[in-house]
Amino acid sequence: MPSAAPTGDLASQVLQALDKSSPLLSAEAFPAAGFTELKAALDRLASRDMVKYEQLERDEAVLEPEGEQIAANGSHEARVFEALRQAVEGLTVQELEKAIGDKNVVKIGQGKAFKEKWIAKTKDGKFQATADAIKDTTQEQMRTIQKTRAYPDAKVLNDLRKRKLVRIQKIYTFKVQKGDKFALEIPEEATDLTFDMIATGAWKTATFKPYNFKALGADQRPGALHPLNKVRAELRQIFFEMGFEEMPTDKCVESGFWNFDTLFVPQQHPARDLQDTFYISDPKLADPPRAEDENDKKDYKKYWENVKAVHQNGKYGSIGYRYPWSGDETLKLVLRTHTTAVSAAMLYKLAHKKGPDGRPPPARYFSIDRVFRNESVDATHLAEFHQVEGVIADYNLTLGGLMEFMEIFFGKMGLTDLKFKPAYNPYTEPSMEIFAYHKGLKKLVEIGNSGMFRPEMLESMGFPPDMRVYGWGLSLERPTMIKYGISNIRELLGHKVDLNFVQSSAAVRLDKA
Ligand code: PHE
Repeated sequence: MPSAAPTGDLASQVLQALDKSSPLLSAEAFPAAGFTELKAALDRLASRDMVKYEQLERDEAVLEPEGEQIAANGSHEARVFEALRQAVEGLTVQELEKAIGDKNVVKIGQGKAFKEKWIAKTKDGKFQATADAIKDTTQEQMRTIQKTRAYPDAKVLNDLRKRKLVRIQKIYTFKVQKGDKFALEIPEEATDLTFDMIATGAWKTATFKPYNFKALGADQRPGALHPLNKVRAELRQIFFEMGFEEMPTDKCVESGFWNFDTLFVPQQHPARDLQDTFYISDPKLADPPRAEDENDKKDYKKYWENVKAVHQNGKYGSIGYRYPWSGDETLKLVLRTHTTAVSAAMLYKLAHKKGPDGRPPPARYFSIDRVFRNESVDATHLAEFHQVEGVIADYNLTLGGLMEFMEIFFGKMGLTDLKFKPAYNPYTEPSMEIFAYHKGLKKLVEIGNSGMFRPEMLESMGFPPDMRVYGWGLSLERPTMIKYGISNIRELLGHKVDLNFVQSSAAVRLDKA
C-alpha cells in the first residue's frame, strides 16, 4: 500500500492513520490538530461506531525561555568556564563580562563555576580555568527535556521547575482504535426516508443519521400577541361568560347619522367639530337613507325622519333641541369617534326583532375595537385608541341594576369598591362615571363611563317604552397600561413601540392584582 500522507478532512485522516496502526495516540499521529477539532472528528466517527476512543491526560515538561537559552548556548557556569579556558592568562571581571557579553551570566555563572571548582582566582585577582574540559549537566538536561518532553529523574525535574528553567503542562491526547464499523470511507448518511428509497429498496442498506436528541434547535423568534390583544382576549372571555354577543365593528367609517344623530348628539355639539373628529374627504358623503333596504328590509327613511323629529321639535316625551336639523350633516362620513355608533346600529336592529311575545327580546352586546379622535398626541393621548363597550337591553331595567352589574363586571377584572359620579352624555340619562381604587397608584382612577340610553333615542328606533338599555364603555389602553406598568401610551401603540417589549410581555390575568 502506498504510504502517502493522509489526505481529506480530519475524520478521514484519522481513518487512514488507524488503518495503518490501531490503536494510536492522537498527540503522536496528529500533533498539530487542535483539541476541539480533533474531538469533533472523533465524535463524528464514534457516533457511527467507526472508532472508539478515550481521552488521556499526561504531564509534559517544556523549557522556559531561560531553559531554551541554556539548551542552545550552555549553562551560565559552563559559559564562564569556556571563556576562561580560552584565555590562558586569566581574565578580570570586566574582561570576562566583555568576553561573554552578558553581565547576568557572569554574575550567576562565576559563583556556580567556583562551587564546581571549574575556576579559581589568581594571585592578582583574575579568574582562571582549572580544567581542560567539564561536563555541562544542566545543558544536557535541557536538551533531553527539549527532545523527550520529560525527564527520568522526578527530583531533578522538580528542581529544574523551581529554578524556572522548565514548566510542567497538561497534555490531552486521545487513544483511538478501530470500531466495529471501521471503514476507510465515511458512509453517506440519509436524513430522510424518501419515496425513492422505499421504491428501490435502498432503505435496506442505507445508513441513517441518528437523531440528536440533545440538539437545542435553532433560536426561534415566533410571533407574539400585542399586550392590547392579550388584555382584549381576557375581556372578551369575561363578556362571553356573562352571555354577551360580539358586535360587528369591522368598519371604521360611519355616517354622522350613526355616530352622532342616532345618539342624540346635536349637530352643533363640539364633538362634531373638525378639531375633534376626522371627516372623510373622498367620498365625503354616505348614501341617503333608504325607504326600504333590499338586504334587511328596514325603512331607514322612516327612522331618519324620526331622529330628525326628536332633534328638531322633540318627540316621545322629549322637547328636543329645537334647532333646524340638517339632513346633509348626517350624511358626512367620519372615522367613528366611539364604538357606540355600532351599538346604535345594533340596537336599531334589535328594536325590529320579534321575540316569542312579539316584542324585541332582551339582548347583551359588546365590542372591543378601534376609535379615532382628532387629538394632539401626548403621553396619555393618541389620535386612535380602543374602546371596550357593552350594552344590555331588557325590560324594566333600573339604575340600581346598572350599578350592580358594574360591580360584577369590573369585579371580574379585579376592580372592586366602585364609586359612581354623575356625568353627562347626550345619549344617556342618567349618566355615571365609574371610579375604582387603584392599589398600586393608591388613588381613585376613572375606569369607565356609563348610563341608561335616553327614551327618545330608543323609542325613535321602535323599542317599546318599557324596554331599557344600559350602556358603558372604557378604553382598552387604560387597563393594559396599568397591568403592564406603562406610563406613556406611545410605548404601547404606534411607531415607537419596542418589539422586544411586545415579544416578552407576559400574558395577564385581569383578576390577579
Ligand atoms: N361612548 C362612551 C365614551 O366614548 C362610552 C359609553 C357607551 C357611555 C355607552 C355610555 C353608554 O366614553
